[in-house]
Amino acid sequence: MRITILGCGDVGLALARHWSLDPALQLVLTTTRDERRPELEPLAEQVAVLRADDAEALLGALAGSAVAVLCLAPCGDRQVDAEAYAATYRDSMRALRQVLPHLPGLRQIVYTGSSAVYGDAAGGWVDEETPVQPRDDHGRVLHESEQLLLSCRSPERRVCVLRLGAIHGPGRQLAHRFRRLAGSTLPGGGAQHSNWIHRDDVVGAIAAAVAHGWDGVVNVVDDEPMPVAELTQLVCRAAGLEPVRWDPGDATASAPPNRRIRNDRLRQLGYELRHPRRTLPRLRSIDQDLFDAVAEQARSTPRLRRHHNLHAEADGVQRFLNVLQPGSYVRPHRHRREQAGTGFECFLVLQGRIGLLVFDDNGEVIQQECLAANSPLRGLELAEDQFHTLVALSPDAVIFELKQGPYHPATDKEFHSRFPLEGSAEAIPLEEGWRRLFGETPAGC
Ligand SMILES: NC(=O)c1ccc[n+]([C@@H]2O[C@H](COP(=O)([O-])OP(=O)(O)OC[C@H]3O[C@@H](n4cnc5c(N)ncnc54)[C@H](OP(=O)(O)O)[C@@H]3O)[C@@H](O)[C@H]2O)c1
Repeated sequence: MRITILGCGDVGLALARHWSLDPALQLVLTTTRDERRPELEPLAEQVAVLRADDAEALLGALAGSAVAVLCLAPCGDRQVDAEAYAATYRDSMRALRQVLPHLPGLRQIVYTGSSAVYGDAAGGWVDEETPVQPRDDHGRVLHESEQLLLSCRSPERRVCVLRLGAIHGPGRQLAHRFRRLAGSTLPGGGAQHSNWIHRDDVVGAIAAAVAHGWDGVVNVVDDEPMPVAELTQLVCRAAGLEPVRWDPGDATASAPPNRRIRNDRLRQLGYELRHPRRTLPRLRSIDQDLFDAVAEQARSTPRLRRHHNLHAEADGVQRFLNVLQPGSYVRPHRHRREQAGTGFECFLVLQGRIGLLVFDDNGEVIQQECLAANSPLRGLELAEDQFHTLVALSPDAVIFELKQGPYHPATDKEFHSRFPLEGSAEAIPLEEGWRRLFGETPAGC
């Protein structure tokens, strides 16, 4: 059987990969960009570069296919306005309707629509029979597009509209989505339910729709609509992010629609969800976004440095990021532990440059090392009992540190009595002098 997938972005590409393993299927894949041919050609009998509102090109891509799957979405990361929505969805549906009389062999059309067509239900349940009430122009375009497609149904041609929840999955992890909200205060109470579906279940539902000839509207959402506040709390906790706070007294933003979408029809059609609930991996990303956020905090504290702990204080292993700005004075100290072999400290520079100074008991420098993320020397392990300090040789210098825990503030460090207290006037020229030991801002070490 020949199948055309119109739009091979995240969902269309995953579907093409899934179907490419079935030798009984020949795939025609479309993209709007010529440069995507090398990615798509190994999966397809034919790759067509087209916009689906181009009726002639569309006819060419659908000729000979028994099934068309529409996985189009406006391109780009920016927020797309309703006009761009209309140009992508409505105009493509119109073109499809126009060419259908020339495609008698096209027996089924499957479209990945959106549950955005449902309006607000004050937290109640909605299903495929609930009258749609799109709340904005985007939703109205999606509804009009559905209607255009459904008007193409005939005894010979099934049209299946899958109303998807918000998609999560590989490349669309919930932790990444919510990360920028972590620690912020959002207006309202976050009581509105959000409805989700894993990308693999979108692919699974489309494949089932084609295998079993589904017709009409089917909601494709998982079993667990969840209030946004609850979801952000779970995601932030699993990812070690600061929780999102809510301000119920602030009604500045219009609340998103609140409805719980039923998937009973999907179940009745025999589809078993692979991800009926969102299982959240307990993973903490150590990435540029985190560096930038902690560096920003480091810039605005008087100490000009900031820890970001991955551990809890009671943990046996302390692991944390330490972001330093030039000017941050770390009073020389050493780590002593009662148990042998537990006073070590391991540093790895992940961004920028750090100067490490080791002192003798008299406070004389006995070694200096420049560590940098882009130099041969990226890190060091310091044995216990070594007096040392660190200086930032570049803005936003990020170190990953590893030490034995648990952390006891009173006994963790023993300061070198020869050096002034943090925050004292004498500390400022001392730190500047230490930085000068490493020379004038070289590019590396
Ligand atoms: N993301 C969600 O949470 C969500 C929720 C509900 C429903 N959906 C629906 O799920 C479907 C799949 O989404 P996705 O995440 O896979 O989207 P995506 O990754 O953004 O991919 C969109 C694809 O559509 C193609 N395209 C864009 N404009 C086109 C046009 N005018 N004519 C033909 N092709 C065009 C793009 O072409 P290029 O290859 O040139 O980029 C790309 O291949 C969409 O229909 C979307 O509306 C998504």
